[in-house]
Amino acid sequence: MLDRLEELQREALQKVEQASELNDLKDVRVAYLGKKGPITEVLKGMGKLSAEERPKVGQKANEVRDEIKTAIEEKESRMEKEALDKKLKEESIDVTLPGRPVRRGNRHPLTAVVETVEDVFIGMGFSVAEGPEVETDYYNFESLNLPKDHPARDMQDTFFITSDLLLRTQTSPVQTRTMEKHEGQGPVKIICPGKVYRRDEDDATHSHQFMQIEGLMVDKNIRMSDLKGVLETFAKNYFGEDRKIRLRPSFFPFTEPSAEVDISCAICDGEGCRTCKQTGWIEVLGAGMVHPNVLKMGGFDPEVYSGFAFGMGVERLAMLRYGIDDIRHFYTNDMRFLSQFK
Ligand code: DAH
Repeated sequence: MLDRLEELQREALQKVEQASELNDLKDVRVAYLGKKGPITEVLKGMGKLSAEERPKVGQKANEVRDEIKTAIEEKESRMEKEALDKKLKEESIDVTLPGRPVRRGNRHPLTAVVETVEDVFIGMGFSVAEGPEVETDYYNFESLNLPKDHPARDMQDTFFITSDLLLRTQTSPVQTRTMEKHEGQGPVKIICPGKVYRRDEDDATHSHQFMQIEGLMVDKNIRMSDLKGVLETFAKNYFGEDRKIRLRPSFFPFTEPSAEVDISCAICDGEGCRTCKQTGWIEVLGAGMVHPNVLKMGGFDPEVYSGFAFGMGVERLAMLRYGIDDIRHFYTNDMRFLSQFK
């Protein structure tokens, strides 16, 4: 029996040696160490042995079993390690390869225009104010001298949330909000860029949502000439040194007197062309001296303080600066359009 055990050991170790896959080792384990394997058989047959032989055979059988087991385990871990090494080698990453460049985006043209205009006005001592897009009827209309049923409201129909809450039609309500914060003390010197809304049919020059930049200056002794000087400085900085401005009488409920402001056409230099409809001038904004009622509603004494205000359309500024022919380009997020403003 001892010989038989030795033979089994030799056989098993040889098979372990020859195994080329983990599955082969599994087979060896089942074949030699399993419940139905030859070593178990030998152990079962021990009852027939003499008392003298029994411990020797038992010991040998245990030894053989342990050796086979160890051999299998050693080979198994060697094979696993090899497999892992191979896999790591195959999957290795060359960290010295150049990376894929990150595509750099650019600011939206409207953002670029707003920031350019902000820079010009900050340079003149203005600061940037903000106000809510969901506005009350009071701030959007009443505080700007547009009482309920005022006919000028018709031009600015909008989206109503309740009868008293609406999407603001202009950035002008920020005038009142800012004046209130100053509690009747000048100077007030702000611009306010932001989105506004109107019930408009969208076409090449109209959109139900667009942007404006409001301006307000209130202090003692502010005159129309101050307004003109500030706007001229803006026009030259934004449109170019050669540009001239002109003020035409107009009407806004919140300013008195009011003016439409034109700049001289950059394309024909004032000669008259298609862009300026042969007039030599292009309308860019509305402006005027703040109406005494508006000063009062903002908490300022119109006997002591005066001011000017203006409002301009950001899309229009962008269209004039970049020669864009359709307002809808700004909102359709077409990369072919947007990536031209790098
Ligand atoms: N809020 C006016 C509009 O949307 C634009 C405007 C005109 C603003 C004159 C002003 C101003 O502050 O003085 O049509």
